[in-house]
Amino acid sequence: MSVLRNQLLPWIKVLACQALVLVAVLFLSRWITPGTLPVLLGQGAAAAGLGFLLRMPRIWLVVQFLLPVAVVYGDAVPAWAYLVAFVLCALVYWNSASEQVPLYLTNRRTWQALADLVAASGAKSVVDLGSGMGGVVTFLARAQPGVEVSGLETAPLVVAASKLRIALSRLPNARIVYRSLWEAELGNYDVVYCFLSPVPMARLFEKARHEMRPGTLFVSNSFTVPGRAADRILDVDDGRRTQLHIYTL
Ligand SMILES: C[S@@+](CC[C@H](N)C(=O)[O-])C[C@H]1O[C@@H](n2cnc3c(N)ncnc32)[C@H](O)[C@@H]1O
Repeated sequence: MSVLRNQLLPWIKVLACQALVLVAVLFLSRWITPGTLPVLLGQGAAAAGLGFLLRMPRIWLVVQFLLPVAVVYGDAVPAWAYLVAFVLCALVYWNSASEQVPLYLTNRRTWQALADLVAASGAKSVVDLGSGMGGVVTFLARAQPGVEVSGLETAPLVVAASKLRIALSRLPNARIVYRSLWEAELGNYDVVYCFLSPVPMARLFEKARHEMRPGTLFVSNSFTVPGRAADRILDVDDGRRTQLHIYTL
């Protein structure tokens, strides 16, 4: 049921909006020529507007906008370009299928809340499990020069980009390691931070419980550990209403 809701429902909404707008375009076809680029862009914009009214997430509004042009002019793009796009997406969203953890990023306000939490805890070492583009690692390392901050990541293009970011930032206390979070030795860290998905949380917390030292902190952005109440919840004052779930080992 949840697969149906998550995967199919947005597409059903997209097709419904496009169909509605297409009916309007056909009605107006006495005055306009359906299939021309301006009309296709107009159709996409109108469908995106309907999607907005249906409160669809932003990424789906982009799909709504581009779909008519993609359907009509898709042939104009050489076949290899689709292959290149697919490979690039695979290298970025490497863990979406296998781990069911896609790439989305912690925002700046949450970086700050986390930095304050790390400072208050007196931690000397922090790890971001699945460090994405390295934003958390860079911010924490800059905010807390006395703290060693590590990021573990396995999506190849994301690792390369975040390593470059760290190299350019010249922060001696920051590093990104190409390693699965399942192979991390969590006992090495005073604070373990993650922003993953509901799927790995139970197994990951079990790992943390076995490896982390007493008194150290396991902090999960948004996703709770099933069957275990957080010791503290930090509400971040951001648009997403982020909650940091803090578990003291
Ligand atoms: C939602 S993103 C969070 C990125 C970053 N921590 C942040 O908050 O901005 C989750 C990241 O975890 C990575 N990931 C998923 N499974 C992983 C694994 N087994 N080992 C290392 N990284 C993993 C994904 O590639 C993705 O970049």
